[in-house]
Amino acid sequence: MSETRLPWIAEDPASKAVLDLARKVAETSTTLLITGESGTGKDHLARLIHELGPRRDAPFLKIDCASLPQELVESELFGHERGAFTGAVERKLGRLEMASGGTIVLDEVAALSPATQSKLLRVLEERQFERLGGTETISIDARLVALTNSDLARLVSDGQFREDLFFRLSVLTIPLPALRARPADILPLADALLMRGARVHGRMGVAFSEPVIKMLSSYSWPGNVREMRNAIERALVFSGGASLIVEDFPESVRSADSAYGGALRSLDDVERDAIHATLEATRYKIGKSAQILGISRKTLLDKRKKYGLS
Ligand SMILES: Nc1ncnc2c1ncn2[C@@H]1O[C@H](COP(=O)(O)OP(=O)(O)OP(=O)(O)O)[C@@H](O)[C@H]1O
Ligand SMILES: [Mg+2]
Repeated sequence: MSETRLPWIAEDPASKAVLDLARKVAETSTTLLITGESGTGKDHLARLIHELGPRRDAPFLKIDCASLPQELVESELFGHERGAFTGAVERKLGRLEMASGGTIVLDEVAALSPATQSKLLRVLEERQFERLGGTETISIDARLVALTNSDLARLVSDGQFREDLFFRLSVLTIPLPALRARPADILPLADALLMRGARVHGRMGVAFSEPVIKMLSSYSWPGNVREMRNAIERALVFSGGASLIVEDFPESVRSADSAYGGALRSLDDVERDAIHATLEATRYKIGKSAQILGISRKTLLDKRKKYGLS
């Protein structure tokens, strides 16, 4: 799917509160910590804060602390002088310097080695640093935003993260709630993701079927918005019709779609849902649906009429 970013979708009170906080902190230069489960939108929020504030025209740079080898993290962050280490054939500017006036994002800050944690702490305290192997002191003019999906307080008590650095970073913390904790966001997000996907795949006008809407709302989304994006992307690729059906979605998401749903409902409701889901699944093939449901074609046609399913 194209990476055209969506605006920040916030319908649930919990994510509206996040948006309000983001607007306020965007005006400041305070170091920021964004926490939240994987896929909740930490990167997305960091970018939004950058764009909402006075730094929007300056660079937005990111360092992925978890995937870069630790030796590289420091040189990416601080830059180095020629000859600082084997292979440093020329001076290289670090992101802290390049992000001048802008925002620098430290993704998965919990992955920093103890040595880099100490250096970062010094930088945050003094607002200045030297390139590796250099003597010139450079002042920082970038806002630092740290992201993590780890429980940093626990890592501190386990001795894996410096307490003083944790305090420095967490002065202003924005906890991003998991998607299941902001249920009113689920359908608006799904619609926005579907519209974007439809544009990318040239499938304008494609819609969710009724059972899919129920399924999307009742699923717990352990992988949060990213999982939803991937599920909708997959459904778009799998489906041929004008509406996405339950069967187009990955098994994990489909497990949320049970005719019995855990809720207490009338037998008629259960029957209606079972018939609807079967018709959707077979793309309204009457013979096949009747066979799956174990009823005659005539009974199916009667019931379809009774429940208004056509
Ligand atoms: N509120 C939102 N509105 C629109 N799109 C969103 C929202 N939140 C997240 N997304 C989209 O969901 C996807 C995952 O978000 P993002 O990469 O920011 O998550 P993350 O918290 O950084 O995850 P990880 O911890 O795995 O890095 C992205 O495509 C992002 O654009
Ligand atoms: Mg991320």
